Amino acid sequence: MSAREAMEAKIEELGLVPVVVLENAEDAAPLAKALCEGGLPVAEVTFRTAAAQESIRRMSEAYPDMLVGAGTVLSIEQVDKAVEAGAKFIVSPGFDPEVVDYCLEKEIPVFPGLITPSELAQAAKRGLRVVKFFPAEQFGGVSTIKALAAPYVGMKFMPTGGISAKNLKDYLSCKSIVACGGSWMVKGDMIKAGEFEKIKELTAEAVALAKEIRG
Ligand code: 3PG
Repeated sequence: MSAREAMEAKIEELGLVPVVVLENAEDAAPLAKALCEGGLPVAEVTFRTAAAQESIRRMSEAYPDMLVGAGTVLSIEQVDKAVEAGAKFIVSPGFDPEVVDYCLEKEIPVFPGLITPSELAQAAKRGLRVVKFFPAEQFGGVSTIKALAAPYVGMKFMPTGGISAKNLKDYLSCKSIVACGGSWMVKGDMIKAGEFEKIKELTAEAVALAKEIRG
């Protein structure tokens, strides 16, 4: 099993990927603790803030077994920064062939975002088996995923964008979906306010809901 396949299997087992925006690296370890204690030892730390690299480093050091990945990765420079800090996987919002090919060459698990069959063709050609579907709700949600999955047999999706406890069931009931990404249990205002207990509770609720849906 390749590193990518192993990562895909772990993400599928967890079923949820919290998408995190950290303004302050000081919050990284307490957030990782809340997620792990809530039963979700995984995070996509987005490169939307200057604190991303240091946050990945602190989370990975504090919780070496946690699946800490980097999100919103837009360049190969950011891939290097993320991996140097300990990121175990790379997620990008769009399908950037340069970023994808670089990760494949370096055997770094990569989940590029896409929406269209043309982008899916590019992913399939490169042997990818799991891709991010983003932004999910804005582009037709589960019904679009089902339509895309029909011709691309075996391709699996990790939708993010507009997913929450309210519509999780629609997504996680679909066989072509390995996991859902989202920020509903790790909202920026809760992180800023230091509400890690609340994050832990929302995380535990999300984990319980995912288990209930998947049976
Ligand atoms: C992402 O980058 O995957 C999304 O911004 C997460 O979407 P959400 O904030 O609507 O959950």
